[in-house]
Amino acid sequence: MADTADSETAPQQRWTAVDLYITDLLVPEDAVLEAALRDSAAAGLPPIAVTPNQGKLLGLLARVLRARAILELGTLGGYSTIWLARALPADGRLLTLEAQPEYAEIARANIARAGLAKSVELRVGPALETLPQLVAEGAGPFDLIFIDADKKNNPGYFEWSLKLSRPGTLIVVDNVVRDGRIIDPDAYDPALGDENIKGIRRFFELLAAERGVDATAIQMVGSKGYDGFALAIVD
Ligand code: SAH
Ligand code: DHB
Ligand code: MG
Repeated sequence: MADTADSETAPQQRWTAVDLYITDLLVPEDAVLEAALRDSAAAGLPPIAVTPNQGKLLGLLARVLRARAILELGTLGGYSTIWLARALPADGRLLTLEAQPEYAEIARANIARAGLAKSVELRVGPALETLPQLVAEGAGPFDLIFIDADKKNNPGYFEWSLKLSRPGTLIVVDNVVRDGRIIDPDAYDPALGDENIKGIRRFFELLAAERGVDATAIQMVGSKGYDGFALAIVD
């Protein structure tokens, strides 16, 4: 039973098999995206890009918004970047922020192979340093902001994202559930907890308190396990 997943199958195998089923039907094989993942893996980047059907969701959201300006925090090898940038009109622009120069080098090659070098700008550096620079330069407002860098800094990323937004901007945040660990008291213990889990919870608290956004979050399962997206529209 290598290619099926019945109700006796372990949950992860079943989630992966259903993602394959959906992806086979709705997310066409794409040599450029597959090469981006292959070269990212070959260079030793961690296998933590969004899944193909999540990448397509990001692209669909960009299309719904008719986004012309997109900001991404956390490029890795540029896989989600390519999904988002492909959803832009011909004169659209995407700016993506990445802390690791070695990852940025791989991403640049992947973005160039996708024919997106003209519409994508990659800035290397910790996002908490590049975001204030963007505000100082008068960058934005962006139509869509995808927050997918280090989770411990999500509160700061959300606050800076608001400064780079306009009414109607959609902010999407990846990895807000983390196997459900966001509700484990051990994981968010102020002294002994996990900095990433604490960052995600602090972000949720900011989201709840912020009068200027309308937000929700959705749990997801799939080939990457159990996690989720938060979505917020700026009022
Ligand atoms: N969006 C990518 C995955 C990003 S993984 C995709 O789906 O294809 C998270 C990325 O955030 C990693 O590349 C990591 O190096 C980067 N990152 C971690 N800390 C960062 C920081 N302080 N500033 C900017 N990027 C950071
Ligand atoms: C991990 C997953 C992600 O999607 C991400 O952006 C960062 C880290 C992880 O599983 O460690
Ligand atoms: Mg992520």
